[in-house]
Amino acid sequence: VTRRTLNKCSALLVVAVSTCGIVLNALGEDSLESLKASYRRPDQAVIPAPAHNPLSAERIDLGKKLFFDPRLSGSGRVSCATCHSPSLSWGDGLPRSVGAKDQVLSRRSPTLLNIAWCSTLFWDGRAADLEEQAVGPVTNKQEMNQTLAAMLRSIRGPYRELFSKAYPGEPLNSKTVFKAIACFERSIVSGPAPFDRWVEGDESAISDGAKRGFILFNGKAKCSSCHSGWRFTDDAFYDIGAKGNDPGRGKLMPGFETMQHAFKTPTLRNVARRSPYLHDGSVANLANVIELYVAGGEVRRPSLSDQITPLQLSKQEKLELTEFLTTLTGADPPVTLPVLPQ
Ligand code: HEC
Ligand code: HEC
Repeated sequence: VTRRTLNKCSALLVVAVSTCGIVLNALGEDSLESLKASYRRPDQAVIPAPAHNPLSAERIDLGKKLFFDPRLSGSGRVSCATCHSPSLSWGDGLPRSVGAKDQVLSRRSPTLLNIAWCSTLFWDGRAADLEEQAVGPVTNKQEMNQTLAAMLRSIRGPYRELFSKAYPGEPLNSKTVFKAIACFERSIVSGPAPFDRWVEGDESAISDGAKRGFILFNGKAKCSSCHSGWRFTDDAFYDIGAKGNDPGRGKLMPGFETMQHAFKTPTLRNVARRSPYLHDGSVANLANVIELYVAGGEVRRPSLSDQITPLQLSKQEKLELTEFLTTLTGADPPVTLPVLPQ
């Protein structure tokens, strides 16, 4: 490791390689430790929820049934879980989702992992909270194609008792339906990953290559300028130079140049389980996502984020970045399918 490569690595950190593996030796060991600490998971027991809809076991259970219930859709065939399946990291594994009429939608289904901590929803941030968001897919003709009146007719009978237990004193209406679904969504939290064990001090939890990948992620690859914190997202919007004409957040903010073709920074928790990538599923695997960043984006528009510039990464370093990303895959608690009320 020459002085030049060390300087390139990061302003904060010096990486020293010893004969018996890697010693991540900060300009003080302290900087590495404080960097690791900036990714520490919050206390699992404290899931944020709005004051008007606090979590309870009854609400999560009810919301789960509604989430998996195809009777919420016009055709009776589509549930939220059709496009947000726990088997596929709460997405659908498709480049772009397929809607109620078997037509391909314009965007990929995002994961719902750790959604309780998200400050804006959808790839373009057009919804602010989960209670408001869930109305969209149910009534959208492209998605579940159902009117709220018909949805209530189909669930009122079977669900009456569950609602009176979960929301005593509140009527069974579309508001409480979406409140219950929101409670279930907030309960979807990614399990601890090897990376978390390393953050907590277990040096054997991840490989030396992955540790070097972490330094690159925070250093010369500049990933952490957007993928920050324990969810690895800043919940902000950027044009990273991916191909395609979708205006993204630009549709909501037509006068703002940097919002054209800008999409929400996705979480990288369990990201290895969610190919294909990006808002339109146009990138097949993690190695190709990294190539997009190395090139400084494929499309150079005026809206391109100024944080996206070509990267000088060797073949080895690209592999180390990918190796690091795979350490974010946790052992998620198994999900059981609910038995729906009749
Ligand atoms: C036909 C497939 C489909 C169905 C059914 C569906 N979704 Fe989605 N969902 C999507 C797609 C695609 C997006 C991204 C759309 C966008 O960003 O413009 C999305 C986005 C979301 C988001 C935002 C996530 C984020 O990271 O911002 C939430 C939350 C969500 N859906 C919840 C639900 C709930 C709750 C239901 C059931 C009431 C549901 N979805 C039904 C495909 C679907
Ligand atoms: C300027 C902010 C920014 C920087 C810097 C950045 N990203 Fe991203 N990243 C995003 C945004 C925004 C998207 C979604 C873009 C889209 O869907 O069109 C994304 C998407 C991804 C995805 C796909 C995730 C998914 O679920 O589709 C991965 C993986 C990823 N980034 C990893 C990285 C790595 C590794 C680096 C460093 C080499 C990096 N990012 C640098 C903002 C950024």
